[in-house]
Amino acid sequence: MTTAPWWTHGTIYQIYPRSFQDSDGDGVGDLEGIRRRLDHLEDLGVDALWLSPIFVSPMRDFGYDIADYRAVDPVFGRMEDLEALLRDAHARGLRVILDLVPNHTSDQHAWFKDSRSSRQAAKRDWYIWRDPAPDGGPPNNWLSEFGGSAWAFDEATGQYYYHAFLESQPDLNWRNPAVCEAITDVMRFWLDKGVDGFRIDVLWHLMKDESFRDNPVNPHWREGGPPTDRLVKLYTTDLPEMETVIRRLRETVEPYGDRVLIGEIYLPTERLMRYYGTENDGVHLPFNFALIDAAWDARHIHRMIEDYEQALPPGGWPNWVTGNHDKPRIATRIGPAQARVAAVLLLTLRGTPTIYYGEEIGMEHAVFDDATALDPFARQVPGFGLGRDGARTPMQWEPGPNAGFGAGTPWLPVSRTDEAATVAGQRDDPASMLSLYRRLLALRRTRKAFTEGRYQGLAAEGGLLLYLREAGDERFLVALNLGAVPVSVSLTGPVSAGRIVLSAKPGREDEAIAGSLTIDGDDALVVALDPAG
Ligand code: NOJ
Ligand code: MG
Repeated sequence: MTTAPWWTHGTIYQIYPRSFQDSDGDGVGDLEGIRRRLDHLEDLGVDALWLSPIFVSPMRDFGYDIADYRAVDPVFGRMEDLEALLRDAHARGLRVILDLVPNHTSDQHAWFKDSRSSRQAAKRDWYIWRDPAPDGGPPNNWLSEFGGSAWAFDEATGQYYYHAFLESQPDLNWRNPAVCEAITDVMRFWLDKGVDGFRIDVLWHLMKDESFRDNPVNPHWREGGPPTDRLVKLYTTDLPEMETVIRRLRETVEPYGDRVLIGEIYLPTERLMRYYGTENDGVHLPFNFALIDAAWDARHIHRMIEDYEQALPPGGWPNWVTGNHDKPRIATRIGPAQARVAAVLLLTLRGTPTIYYGEEIGMEHAVFDDATALDPFARQVPGFGLGRDGARTPMQWEPGPNAGFGAGTPWLPVSRTDEAATVAGQRDDPASMLSLYRRLLALRRTRKAFTEGRYQGLAAEGGLLLYLREAGDERFLVALNLGAVPVSVSLTGPVSAGRIVLSAKPGREDEAIAGSLTIDGDDALVVALDPAG
């Protein structure tokens, strides 16, 4: 019996609810749709689903602009649908993680409506209001992540409010204890309903400089680069005060037992580590996005893994991610052949993996024109390939109309409806991406070397990435070829012989190896090593 919390050995699966399964024909995925597809998740072998926001929202940022934290948006269903999903998922041993968006609300939230009603409003100080600069312009130079100034002028009360994202997403004022109280109340509301944890949106943004100093110019920014990168976000993100905030969030879930907090944080490895807290009192899993836009180079990735492993604080549990609803899909970024190698990497590294829906069938990034994109980021910061619609196209379930996503016209066009690109078409094909994911997840479930085991990087050259995963007498060698040409490695001492238990390219399972190993281009092998000595 293992006593480690479930999220240390489990695998998380991210669902973008608009795009998973539409049950009512309105072209938008919904909770009932997700419930009907639980078979797929169980069959795949994941342990938890994280749902991007399903709360009441005007959908300017597709749910990341929340108007009511405690109610389900009608487009996704009713509270009863969420309760039914929780019940059915739990009955199958699947956990359910919700998205918590504490940094900002929608401008349609009752809190903001009150806040903007007058300077004396009860909730005025729940948001970040400042007087105009002497020239009437914005109070300082802070920029929105979605383009332009981060300050919006409110005619009625003559002040500016701060919004790190859209103008319709005003930032909450986390220096006001009432805000922290209100958000932790929201957390308790959902924890009492039985949800298993939260993924916390833009966690590193919550605190901003108390004296509103201008952000410095980014010395690495070049003319022609995204205008949103022009400044270093020194005074708007990752402030020292975050330490108390993460402690409050952790204290909120602690009485509930094994619930998990996952922080969305885009920071370099060494700064990411602070979010574990000082004494295991921060979030359990600060998302590690190192792989999400890493140059696909074996030496670079090897160093990155080593750096991450080295940087982890005592008791800090690692995690890995290859994609999400904000980033280009991995199968397009590194190509379909290497996407199989990436799957082996994601699921054999030490730490909790998060799979983005569709990765298991090799879904590719769809092409959209920034000018006509639905994603406001693409429209407001066009021309840099930042649009996110391409990662959010409907899940491809079966060949035929809308690939089985639903009867109505999907909110974003389905990318592919041919059999080979669907779950149904891949299910019984041992050479498919889906079969590879299932085999990898089965390996994780049955061999504790992959969940609890040690990681040890081995020296290698060229396109080869080589490491050991070991627990007790279970010893595995993982050899990934990040290049297109075959590579060979000689095996000596305790790592000299064994049997291949999994190959990214079909066909090498069960092959006995001794003394050396050749890995084909675009292949990855997992070798069960013979007992040492
Ligand atoms: C991060 C979310 O992942 C992204 O989709 C959203 O646009 C921003 N936060 C703002 O909420
Ligand atoms: Mg629907």
